[in-house]
Amino acid sequence: MRQYLYEEEEPNPELNMRRRLTIATAEDNIPDDIEELPPLDDEEYSEEEIEIEEEIEVEMSDIEESDDNVAINASYMPETFEQLSAMYRSKMETKTEPKAESKFERKPQSEPEPEPEHEPDPDPEPTTATDIYVEYEDGDIEDYEHDEIDEEEISDEEEDEISDVDDAELMSRLEAKYGRLPAKEFESDPDSDDPSWTQIKPKNPTGAKAEEVADDLFEQELHKANAEMINENPAKALRAFNILTHTYAHKPTAHLSRAQALERMADTRRSNQLLQEAIESYKRYLAFGELITNQSEFRIASERCIQHLRFLGHTHQVFSIHELLIERYPDEAQLRNQLSLSYLMSNNLAKVQHVAGETLKRWPNNSVAQLHFGLAVKQLTGDYARALPYLEFAIQSQEAGTQEAYFYLALGETLQRLGRHTEAWQLHQSGVDKKFFLSVHQRSLYNEPGLKAKPFWQLTETGIAPQLEQLQHNWRAIRNEALSLLNKHGNFQPEAEHLRDTGNWQQYELFSQGKRLHANCQRAPITCALLAKLPAFTTCHRGQVKFSAMQALTHVWPHCGPTNCRLRAHLTLLAPEPHLTSLRVADQQRTWKAGELFIFDDSFEHEVWHNGTQLRLVLILDFWHPDLSESQRRNLSPI
Ligand code: LMR
Ligand code: MN
Repeated sequence: MRQYLYEEEEPNPELNMRRRLTIATAEDNIPDDIEELPPLDDEEYSEEEIEIEEEIEVEMSDIEESDDNVAINASYMPETFEQLSAMYRSKMETKTEPKAESKFERKPQSEPEPEPEHEPDPDPEPTTATDIYVEYEDGDIEDYEHDEIDEEEISDEEEDEISDVDDAELMSRLEAKYGRLPAKEFESDPDSDDPSWTQIKPKNPTGAKAEEVADDLFEQELHKANAEMINENPAKALRAFNILTHTYAHKPTAHLSRAQALERMADTRRSNQLLQEAIESYKRYLAFGELITNQSEFRIASERCIQHLRFLGHTHQVFSIHELLIERYPDEAQLRNQLSLSYLMSNNLAKVQHVAGETLKRWPNNSVAQLHFGLAVKQLTGDYARALPYLEFAIQSQEAGTQEAYFYLALGETLQRLGRHTEAWQLHQSGVDKKFFLSVHQRSLYNEPGLKAKPFWQLTETGIAPQLEQLQHNWRAIRNEALSLLNKHGNFQPEAEHLRDTGNWQQYELFSQGKRLHANCQRAPITCALLAKLPAFTTCHRGQVKFSAMQALTHVWPHCGPTNCRLRAHLTLLAPEPHLTSLRVADQQRTWKAGELFIFDDSFEHEVWHNGTQLRLVLILDFWHPDLSESQRRNLSPI
């Protein structure tokens, strides 16, 4: 389970910038350290109110008891993108309050830099709000876009409860309490097909005064609900917002305020479930589209919603919101950069290249667009010479949005692959100075502090020697199984992370992120049966167990694994030419010998050469770094 795991990382300036885009309400009055919501004080409520609440409220206890506060999909991502998403997740989880910073893109630099070459995208992303828009029928709140069943259940439950409430009855109860509206001025709308949606209309439809009164009442109720929030009564506030969003469903600010209340509660309670509710409320607000005339409110809400969706890993839901923002602010490069960043986070490099390329047509000096474009070129084409000037210019600019560990990693890789080793080293050193990297050699991005760090490890230092020896003892059976798998085309998958310079390097995964890959294990029953008895390898959810087959004349570029939390064992299954193959880890080099086993820390830069003529085959086994406590292991997010 993953719920608001906080990484101790430096605050990210761009994140600060984004986090600053919050509605200026009395956030300071909501302390961060509330463990539990205060108990409901029934004495303050009339019987009628309690009834209303029972009918309407989102049961906080339901949310609390829900075991589904897990939001991050634990799907496998290539190492490169593991690094990226790890970085963004950890940054978003950093509870750093924003510092004052400009929320707009800085002025372009005056230095000349290359014009991007790009082809027009034949399939431009349509600008549409349909996937955040909501269909309302018969006055009921219809389904919203949900991508996870458990979220849908909670949300529907809530909506059902809301829908059960009779508006007229509710209104009269409210009025009984607050006494702000003479009952005779309003009546319930008997026609549930009425498109005006609210179901509460003045008796005299042309009565502008009645509308004014209704607006006044709304404002007062809104104020009251906000006051509950400020007075640290989030449960009461939420009830009030639930009533408001139902009774005044046609008022965008009702949904907006509810979203804000929910996100604050999510923050206080570290609840992804509440955050999901906040997102849904934001979407309802945003669905009003052009009807929302308060520009800054719309912008802030959009950006918050995007930020939360990114945080929960629901990146695919953010694009239509980006498009709405760009439509509203067509002259802001920053909003286009946010869109390409979302594409980058969802690993859609073709879109990154397209969006950043379009941005550069209009703002050729924009360093964030340069950066995104350069990254896409590097990853998509492997044309490092073409990517380099974009990456280099952007990172040298030091502008907000360019100073991220991941970007330093990418520029360093580009320099290395162009053979510019001195510059790469200098760049990595500057990454160390900025605390992006643990050291020049150890450039993993998802790190725990204080772990012993060295390139190669002895068996006896691992704390799991018996389990490693158990596997080693059976190396021949494992080898035979791997060889028979290799015989059938399609079992092994080519390495897909652009780590290979030349040759042929394939892998066959058995465990990933601590999960057994059933189909693959079924075809490798002997190895998986052995592994089943060895928890060191099957419980490490920051790593994999896989066969790695390397053919002759292969070179793997220098690279670093994503985390310092694991160590990597190689059980060598086939290595007929040890003198022609080698693994360099930092500044140490070694080779493979069949039946032998060695351990290294793959967060250190490593590089592989196979200059022989025959297959080299190993079983790769990741296991927890021995310095990590049980509770650290349990709580670390999967990679
Ligand atoms: C790596 O971890 O990148 C390499 O050591 C893999 C391999 O097969 O040598
Ligand atoms: Mn590697």
